[in-house]
Amino acid sequence: MKIGVFDSGKGGTTILEEIKKILPNEEYLFVGDSKNCPYGEKTDSELMEIVIDIVERLKKWGAKIIVVACNTATAKCINRLRKLYPEIKFVGTEPAIRLAAKTDAKRVLVMATPGTIKSERIEKLLKNNRKLGQDITLLACPGLADAIEKGQNVKAILKKILVGESQYDCVVLGCTHYSLIKSKIQKFFPQAELIDGNVGVANRVKELKLLVEK
Ligand code: DGL
Repeated sequence: MKIGVFDSGKGGTTILEEIKKILPNEEYLFVGDSKNCPYGEKTDSELMEIVIDIVERLKKWGAKIIVVACNTATAKCINRLRKLYPEIKFVGTEPAIRLAAKTDAKRVLVMATPGTIKSERIEKLLKNNRKLGQDITLLACPGLADAIEKGQNVKAILKKILVGESQYDCVVLGCTHYSLIKSKIQKFFPQAELIDGNVGVANRVKELKLLVEK
């Protein structure tokens, strides 16, 4: 089956690799839209236009399932995409707040793009997964995804964003680009568990693939 996967660039490869582990024999169509990176700093309408253009291409190439391998595009565009393209199954990527709620962590930090942090979808995620005794802090990380995409040294940006933010026992990597620098982020939180939602996305793709094939 043809499965489309897209992101504003390299971040999507972390999801693609995870999907390939459990579905190695499918045909993958990957769009890493680095030209328009960073998505997290675009307006809603700019991002919608960019994303529709990618979905149109993936549809033309025959994708039956499209994975929005980007937290920002999922937060801002997936509802509209599902309405516009009912013939396509969409899988979104969301900050793993649900997973964090299943851990014993008392203090959770969610790192994401400014677009994701400001979205209504993250509000809902928080509301639906609030756990008594667990403190969740949202942290917008402007410039970080873009620097990762461009292969720049991210140390200075991380220092600026994360200074004084060490008291967490769980850190949610709420942007697919951040998984690429997991070890660098871990240095700021030596005791914390770092999590992303990539395995969950891959499992959902498998479920939908079986459903489509029925
Ligand atoms: N990788 C994306 C995400 O998961 C977007 C990064 C960006 O382009 O701002 O949010």
